[in-house]
Amino acid sequence: MPNNRSSRLPGFYALTLKERLDALAQVCELDSESLTTLSGEGGLTSEEADHMIENVIGTYGLPLGIAVNFLVNGREVLVPMAIEETSVVAGASYMAKLVRSGGGFTAKSTESKMIAQIQILELKDLETAKLQLLEHKEQLLDAADEVNQVITQMGGGARDLEVRMLPDTPAGPMLVVHLIYDTRDAMGANTINTAAEALAPRIEILTGGRAHLRILSNLADQRLANARCRIPCGELAFGEFSGERVRDGIIEAWALAVVDPYRAATHNKGIMNGIDAVLVATGNDWRAVEAGAHAYAARSGQYTSLSNWWVNQEGDLEGELEMPLAVGIIGGATRVHPTAKTSLKLLGVGSAREFAEIVVSVGLAQNLAALRALATEGIQRGHMALHARQIAIAAGAEGSLVEKVAKQLVDEGTVSLDRAQELVQTVGKEGRSR
Ligand code: MEV
Repeated sequence: MPNNRSSRLPGFYALTLKERLDALAQVCELDSESLTTLSGEGGLTSEEADHMIENVIGTYGLPLGIAVNFLVNGREVLVPMAIEETSVVAGASYMAKLVRSGGGFTAKSTESKMIAQIQILELKDLETAKLQLLEHKEQLLDAADEVNQVITQMGGGARDLEVRMLPDTPAGPMLVVHLIYDTRDAMGANTINTAAEALAPRIEILTGGRAHLRILSNLADQRLANARCRIPCGELAFGEFSGERVRDGIIEAWALAVVDPYRAATHNKGIMNGIDAVLVATGNDWRAVEAGAHAYAARSGQYTSLSNWWVNQEGDLEGELEMPLAVGIIGGATRVHPTAKTSLKLLGVGSAREFAEIVVSVGLAQNLAALRALATEGIQRGHMALHARQIAIAAGAEGSLVEKVAKQLVDEGTVSLDRAQELVQTVGKEGRSR
């Protein structure tokens, strides 16, 4: 979005669908075709889908929402999120608002270095084979560079070759060669898989072994993104909860995820709620990122929290999230899926690294939203409010009646369709007779 525009769109949630699209058009300078795509009236056709996967019979829709309030490295960003779960977009938006009051998210990323693995079996001596490969490293890297001239012209390409000895496996001793390759703005799966396949015969000649698997690793631990945030303690206060109580409650909740894999799995799932939603909206491979995230969370040998939360010297809450983010803004579905293309246009990112920095910030915001809710009123209240709105609509409420009926359902503690139908009659009548 243009630099002079803010991602603060107060009351965005209360607008109608049409009004939200109009608001978006005003702040983002999207053309009408892009807006039609985002609205769901355009988007992926069955014919386009037919070229993407096999045995296509149609397409599958998901709600597409916009998370507001994000300020990442000083840049205002509106974040497209495709997800079926209630409260995720609202949670990210609200936490981004709190984080803004502490200066927004500060994010960074490493180079886009992916790892391809080549497994070598039937070796006489692992040590000798390893030395042989390392002696010919430059030659092998040059060969890998020939695979994708476009990426090398963009400044990417083969960066390093590592050889790991695995003397004791269920299939006997083996080597695994890691080709480290900078895929720049592409996720790069095809490129590094091709590079791994291209190197395999040379590696066989050099080692006398048999190359077996040739495939990327989803534990992309050389392609990391990191986001940090600070929330002034006072900003955390709400209702009966003081800022200190919310802050300390968040840290206590995080502490359980640090030591307990049962909690860490749920804690990290909350982070991935935000991350996956942006990845789906932009046509990125969310399964790859999921795999990398959970493997990274277990890198010490104990599965643990991906995030860290602490109190700084001023008594404010600070948080950090670091994780592998193998994401792209060119190639794959990002190029062919109309909604993915438009979502990336909306984000206005210039590189895969900038994109990863936004994605990791959304993950941190989502984690904060979950911890804040869990540490205070519990997660169900927010869910119930949204659920009540859906029930009110299902009961026939329209316009301002939706909020009125939903509020009454929550206040009464019974969110049922029968009660909602009664309320639509009674509250609706009151409204009309006034
Ligand atoms: C629900 O989709 C996500 C949470 O369970 C995350 C968490 O517990 O931290 C609320």
